[in-house]
Amino acid sequence: MGKSKNITWHQTTVTKADRHKLNGHTSCVLWFTGLSGSGKSTLANAVDFALFQKGVNSYVLDGDNIRHGLNKDLSFGALDRKENIRRIGEVAKLFVDSGQIVSSAFISPFREDRELVRGMFEPDEFIEIYLHCPIQVCEDRDPKGLYRKARKGEIPDFTGISSPYEPPLNPEITIETSKVAIEQSVAFILDYLKDRKILS
Ligand code: ADX
Repeated sequence: MGKSKNITWHQTTVTKADRHKLNGHTSCVLWFTGLSGSGKSTLANAVDFALFQKGVNSYVLDGDNIRHGLNKDLSFGALDRKENIRRIGEVAKLFVDSGQIVSSAFISPFREDRELVRGMFEPDEFIEIYLHCPIQVCEDRDPKGLYRKARKGEIPDFTGISSPYEPPLNPEITIETSKVAIEQSVAFILDYLKDRKILS
């Protein structure tokens, strides 16, 4: 139950459908989920760049960046991760309402939290993309040196080591990032968007 009282939803003059018409494409969230180091930020940015080059209105929401600002008050405990994902879901929803294709790159380790976000959207607006990558590969990549620290016990609640990751049961897309090249993954996602008539 929310704490705000005496508030009324204000219908906007310009609708989401009006924005879709102006843009020449509809909007959705590409929800990348996977372990740290599985390639979420890299692929989200590569998709965003490809869309940008095609003149599509798109944007990236990235875990590390959002935790520098909007969500800097949140830790990596389960409750704070839940709140992290809930807020991002709401932000992504605003972006989708504004007519953009949002690529969100958050570990979002808990199924229940991702399902909560899915429920905020129309059925065809939430596209869950599971970046499947063995933890050994993520650990070998260790782009930020965090796995090394986590193994030494210097980072509590580290996903995959001292905190669980629950893989999606029924994601719209699964990509094995240790086997598929980035360009191929980008092409696959853009084809999916065309198939779903989100892009023409
Ligand atoms: S989420 O679990 O709440 O979805 P989010 O995607 O926002 O995580 O942030 C993950 C990023 O924070 C990782 O890529 C990593 O750089 C950093 N990080 C710092 N501490 C942790 C931790 N305990 N577990 C996972 N990632 C961490």
